[in-house]
Amino acid sequence: MTQVDVIVIGAGAAGLMCAAQAGYRGRSVTVLDMGKKPGRKILISGGGRCNFTNENASPENYLCGNPHFVKSCLSRYTQHDFIELVDRHGLAYHHKTLGQLFCDNSAQDIVDILLTECEWAGVNIALRNEVLRVEKMDTGYLVSTEQGAFCCESLVVAAGGLTMPKLGATPIGYKIAEQFGLKVLPTMAALVPFTLHQHDKDRFEGLSGISIPCIVSSEDGTRFKENILFTHRGLSGPAILQISSFWRAGQAVTINLLPELDLKAQLATWRETQAQKSLKNSLATILPKRFIEILHESKAIPDCNVNQLTHSQIDELANYIHNWQIKPNGTEGYRTAEVTLGGVDTDELSSKTFEAKKSQGLYFIGEVTDVTGWLGGYNFQYAWSCGFAAGQYC
Ligand code: FDA
Repeated sequence: MTQVDVIVIGAGAAGLMCAAQAGYRGRSVTVLDMGKKPGRKILISGGGRCNFTNENASPENYLCGNPHFVKSCLSRYTQHDFIELVDRHGLAYHHKTLGQLFCDNSAQDIVDILLTECEWAGVNIALRNEVLRVEKMDTGYLVSTEQGAFCCESLVVAAGGLTMPKLGATPIGYKIAEQFGLKVLPTMAALVPFTLHQHDKDRFEGLSGISIPCIVSSEDGTRFKENILFTHRGLSGPAILQISSFWRAGQAVTINLLPELDLKAQLATWRETQAQKSLKNSLATILPKRFIEILHESKAIPDCNVNQLTHSQIDELANYIHNWQIKPNGTEGYRTAEVTLGGVDTDELSSKTFEAKKSQGLYFIGEVTDVTGWLGGYNFQYAWSCGFAAGQYC
């Protein structure tokens, strides 16, 4: 049996950050992961370029049962601290949009930085080691894996959520929490594309690949101004992924298809300048032609010239385009979701140390906890911040 000070379950973003910090404090640390490689989600993130943080990250960008929970860790290890770390390692990166920072070359660069930090801190990373069981002992924890047993004083659970089972997602983190009497809040796929009801799917299938800048709102009033993307399964794109975290089954989402334009004012202008032009062709100059054709076929757009529109038709059309309602059938689920909503209730954890209040020496960090960031580098920033925090105490 191997005896160490700290076992970290999960060689992902949160686990590697935590392990390096604990190692620098002189703790002997072993990271256990069932995968062949460390940081597998980092490697596929951001289209292979890892959106590793967001310059504007703040507690408002996170969903959590307790909105105050993330304040402490985000302020003690900020996006600027992580940027300072990657600068020190000479990472080449760029700002894309809305404060999002991406690697110039490859997400592997971020994994390499974390592995270098772990190496400098003397951390041992044991791959192909699936954790099967955890038991409490008098002086710590016994962790059994396929490869053997490990004894530790502090156990850090950084085993992630349920997204992308193909990349090794397992419910082990939630199971350990429940085993030690911690409440686990219901989980749900988030930052995930919507699927459509058959009727809408058939209507919009031909639009696959078309993207429209929009403002998308959920029934609770949350709004995101980014692109939507039609796919062969339904709707995706950054605005849809963002709103999916706030959407609940059976609800509609409202999409302002022309957020930069007042359609009523535009129609008034057209009545002056192109009165004889068909409404359909006029609208096709400000929205994708194929999309307008579909709305026209379904009679959402009157079949007339611009000057033939009545006042009530103008009001109806403007309202329709600025508040286009779509009721998703569901989401693509954990298979393609970027994150898992819900998880270990943060009321069970210290926001300073991430230690479980009910079990000394047991820590939960990263996606396994009930903290979900918006799209845009916020989830990795939480992983760095909570990994750093727990690493100071475990
Ligand atoms: P993570 O899931 O990374 O790590 C958990 C580890 O635990 C895994 O390595 C797994 O193998 C291991 N494990 C699980 N069960 C085990 C067991 N029983 N025994 C041993 N090991 C076990 N975020 C962001 O900020 N910017 C971005 O660009 C993206 N892009 C992105 C793209 C895609 C496709 C996805 C799926 C996700 C993103 N994300 C993202 C989200 C981001 O990847 C996510 O928030 C973090 O990876 C969470 O880090 P954790 O360390 O908590 O879990």
